[in-house]
Amino acid sequence: MNETLKTINGRVSLRGYDKRDISKEDLDAILEAAMRAPTAGNQMLYSIIVIKDEATKKILSKTCDNQAFIATAPVLLLFLADHQRWFDYYEQNGVGEYCDEHGLLFEAPQESDLLLAIEDTMCAAQNAVIAAESLGIGSCYIGDTVEHYEFHRELFDLPDWAFPIAMLTLGYYRPEQPKVIKERFDREYIIFDEKYRHLSKEDYDKMFASRAKIYKEDNQYGAKNFAQMFYARKTGAEFSKEMARSVRVAMKKWDGRILNKKKFHD
Ligand SMILES: Cc1cc2nc3c(=O)[nH]c(=O)nc-3n(C[C@H](O)[C@H](O)[C@H](O)COP(=O)(O)O)c2cc1C
Repeated sequence: MNETLKTINGRVSLRGYDKRDISKEDLDAILEAAMRAPTAGNQMLYSIIVIKDEATKKILSKTCDNQAFIATAPVLLLFLADHQRWFDYYEQNGVGEYCDEHGLLFEAPQESDLLLAIEDTMCAAQNAVIAAESLGIGSCYIGDTVEHYEFHRELFDLPDWAFPIAMLTLGYYRPEQPKVIKERFDREYIIFDEKYRHLSKEDYDKMFASRAKIYKEDNQYGAKNFAQMFYARKTGAEFSKEMARSVRVAMKKWDGRILNKKKFHD
């Protein structure tokens, strides 16, 4: 295996860190690697907020589903799916007037723009993860930044079209820190040839056999099997409800409203 594959295959989500601060040199290398990620139309539809302030980290450890380890990471990187820059630039350079003159609609960012920006953002984030890992710096994604949209918007002074899609904790591995490589589903359930493969009940039973071993009858959720237990813990949990509410509020901004001065009628 070459060094790149060793780095990728040896990565784990790290939730406990060495006390050392991340050196400027290493942090710069991680941020530069993030910006080298592929990006749709070379637009770089993301922003990255570097967070070192202890008070902000503490706040995020609470607002991101009460995950105390967040506050212990020397650095947090908040990744924003960001279309604001391009639209500010368009507005400053008369794109609305151009569209008026040419009978075109000048539409605000909408769902499709958000999805594309998220694709861009996550490519950059994953480059940061791998670069960090190669420098002996562990990381963990935090998906809960999409919760409490109104609060996070205020905390980071976010404009309408910059959405906090994910965060990375960063910190050096401790010396001799044990790494547990988590198993994945078998590739036959994930990777298909040419067309989608619809899985049977038997397939699912085999696919989940290993994970379902952690199911216990006397679980706190009153669940009768692993699927019910997992749903109660994750998909149907309170934090997921808050995610749904928060994202719905944020999505209202990505509405594709017409920004031209000229009135267009259907
Ligand atoms: C989008 C995304 C969001 C995640 N959010 C969290 C999180 O909020 N807290 C956490 O401890 N881990 C989080 N993780 C890490 C996953 O739990 C982890 O990747 C998974 O359990 C597999 O473990 P591994 O990364 O060590 O292989 C997240 C990962 C991704 C990709």
